[in-house]
Amino acid sequence: MVDAPAPLRIALAGLGTVGAGVIRLIEANAALIARRAGRPLEVTVVGARDRGKDRGIDLTRYAWEDDMVIMGERADVDVVVEMVGGSDGPALACARTTIEAGKALVTANKAMIAHHGLELAGKAEQAKVALKFEAAVAGGIPVIKGLREGAAANEIERVYGILNGTCNYILSTMEDTGRDFADVLAEAQAKGYAEADPAFDIEGIDAAHKLSILAAIAFGGRLDFAAVETSGITRLRAADIAQADALGYVIRLIGMADTMDGTDGKCLFQRVQPHLVPFNHPLAHVDGATNAVVAEGNFSGRLLFQGAGAGDGPTASAVVADLIDIARGEIGAPFSVPVSELEAMAAADAGSRRGRSYVRLLAADRPGVLAEITAAFRDAGVSIESLIQKGRSDDDAVMVALVTHEGPESAVTHAVRLLSGSSSLTEAPLVMHILGD
Ligand SMILES: NC(=O)c1ccc[n+]([C@@H]2O[C@H](COP(=O)([O-])OP(=O)(O)OC[C@H]3O[C@@H](n4cnc5c(N)ncnc54)[C@H](OP(=O)(O)O)[C@@H]3O)[C@@H](O)[C@H]2O)c1
Repeated sequence: MVDAPAPLRIALAGLGTVGAGVIRLIEANAALIARRAGRPLEVTVVGARDRGKDRGIDLTRYAWEDDMVIMGERADVDVVVEMVGGSDGPALACARTTIEAGKALVTANKAMIAHHGLELAGKAEQAKVALKFEAAVAGGIPVIKGLREGAAANEIERVYGILNGTCNYILSTMEDTGRDFADVLAEAQAKGYAEADPAFDIEGIDAAHKLSILAAIAFGGRLDFAAVETSGITRLRAADIAQADALGYVIRLIGMADTMDGTDGKCLFQRVQPHLVPFNHPLAHVDGATNAVVAEGNFSGRLLFQGAGAGDGPTASAVVADLIDIARGEIGAPFSVPVSELEAMAAADAGSRRGRSYVRLLAADRPGVLAEITAAFRDAGVSIESLIQKGRSDDDAVMVALVTHEGPESAVTHAVRLLSGSSSLTEAPLVMHILGD
């Protein structure tokens, strides 16, 4: 008689949205997962802050561990799933001790991977254990697997996408309703689509965490979160959305990474910023809390990954996919190639990039202002494709929105700098780049 294969014994650190989702998924799909993984997935131990909290799931069949940091040291655990969050603190301590104990680690924690991914990957390689984080980027979308496995034969030329569901929900609601940012944000918080403290989302930091992880995998470079040029959506007004619409665009928060040739080899460009996206681009049709990632491979062409970027079910789907890989014995380098072989790429200078930009200015309603603005752009060598001046806005300023012809970004930055001391402007100019084909 053949012995039944040993189950993969799992510790769950954190039982919030994602943790509870993982338990529900493993319970609901246990038989098919065991068939595909070649052995059952068995949760042996769980832990969170409050043991008494009603989580709508029966936890009585699992051992309870108060200290998640020592979960990986338990004899009844093969892999720890970290679903607590935070770049440092208990999540990082849990990750380190787990790997040092020779156990595999799965995490949904993009902040921790963006800040400490290289260190953890180095430790995992040394310990010959798996470190997997599919759920950390774009929730339920298997984009890390897509790049690491499906597109592994390609040189990736560019990777970009909509990486934050909260921002996308806010932007598409502003678009549908004509309402202003603050109003839609308040509603999103009331409905639970935005956190009570939404700063990480609306300032673009969450998207920057995810972009830096994607970029490392796509380009085989050392993860460099600090180099992501990041701006969020807080300065957008309903009038920007309306103006973009009149010009044939929607506004989306886009994370964008590509490589450029620098004087000392390859440079990595990473930026999170609201962009104008042409109506005919696939990302223009990504609405609500959905995420989407585009990767351009030199043989595959454009690949589009789209789906739910958050939520208990989709995120659990990504976590359990990692667990199935581990149950099958797949380790693999966390960033596709060993840490020592990841290329150290200098951060590319945005100024040398070319493209078209949208610039919105709010100016005092007095004669000569338009001439002053156009003179600054002329003096900076920026060629204007279209310019629209709108009547008084709510705060007694006029709005001037212009779109530039293709040219160096440095020239637009120069024009904005020329205007920075102007007493005519009532607010700093807002620059958004236009997504090219
Ligand atoms: N939510 C999503 O859709 C989503 C999507 C992708 C990735 N992620 C990532 O997944 C991770 C978890 O997110 P989540 O939404 O599930 O968070 P959450 O709902 O806030 O859950 C966090 C869990 O961690 C526990 N916890 C917090 N501090 C702890 C500590 N010091 N010791 C032990 N347990 C502690 C909490 O315990 P109590 O329940 O007892 O308070 C809770 O169960 C984060 O890294 C997040 O960025 C989330």
